[in-house]
Amino acid sequence: MAMRESERRREYEVVSLHEIKGRAPKIFGIPSGVEGLDSLFFTVEIRNGEVKKIPLGGYPYLSVMNLTGIADTGKSLMAEQFAVKQASLGYRVCFVTVETPKEFIVQSLRYRASAMGISIENIDKNIFIIDCATNQGLRENLNDLLDTLAYAIREYGIKSVVIDSVTGLYEAKEVMARVIVRKVYNFMKKWRQTCLMVSQKRSSSEELTAEAAGGYGVAHIVDGTIVLYKKLIQSKFDVSTYGLPLGSIIRLMRIDGCRMTGHDTRTFIFEITDTGLVRIMAPLNEYIKRVGGKLR
Ligand SMILES: Nc1ncnc2c1ncn2[C@@H]1O[C@H](COP(=O)(O)OP(=O)(O)O)[C@@H](O)[C@H]1O
Ligand SMILES: [Mg+2]
Repeated sequence: MAMRESERRREYEVVSLHEIKGRAPKIFGIPSGVEGLDSLFFTVEIRNGEVKKIPLGGYPYLSVMNLTGIADTGKSLMAEQFAVKQASLGYRVCFVTVETPKEFIVQSLRYRASAMGISIENIDKNIFIIDCATNQGLRENLNDLLDTLAYAIREYGIKSVVIDSVTGLYEAKEVMARVIVRKVYNFMKKWRQTCLMVSQKRSSSEELTAEAAGGYGVAHIVDGTIVLYKKLIQSKFDVSTYGLPLGSIIRLMRIDGCRMTGHDTRTFIFEITDTGLVRIMAPLNEYIKRVGGKLR
């Protein structure tokens, strides 16, 4: 008997594992340009009943990662480090700047490159900028922005996208946060991009969690969230715990979920070097143990 049209449509919606087998992306790492971060993502292999962790060497390929934190925690630096690193490896990157006009981003990317020991010629041809900071139309009309991005991907062979920040795309309409992030997410999947999406953390009450990261519930949409945090050393307890002088700052980082691969779940101490590079230093517990040893 002939299948009804509505049933025929349903037939396309249901697929077996076998049918989509060939379409699953390979799992490997896309170097982040951040010292100490790449090995925190890993895959596991079970050999002779033993679980072995194999470092991924970067952000998971084709993932959409949400890099979040309160102001001045190093998000933009990490975003720039990623773009510069990828460009230096010969991969084209599109940097969507929402807060800082392009002239300043260019300058910033150059500083980052020279601090990373990468020559400017190596990155010049591989980084493409879409300036939503200056262009209000692009900033306020997501479809226009995504069309422009699609053009760049097609025309220039872009492999990864940085957005700094996605929060700037829903500045005056926070209720749209999830809708906008969902659209961006689906776009990245459709165009097979690895994406580092910066978002502003709206509350510092749940410091190192994805809570209020980029807007309510946004962290559920993306593939993974990295949270950056800075803590002021403001009590005698802090001084003896962290071994740092009163009034100084300790910077903390945590991968708060990544559904594409395994990841280290510990909290890490990081620094921002004088040349403006984020560098992951040690797990917080190990650092504190060392400080304790020194003080005793
Ligand atoms: N050479 C440098 N260039 C840029 N920022 C630096 C440099 N050295 C230290 N920093 C620190 O890093 C911070 C920048 O962090 P940024 O990535 O812009 O923060 P976010 O994007 O999270 O608001 C600066 O405010 C400054 O404190
Ligand atoms: Mg920033």
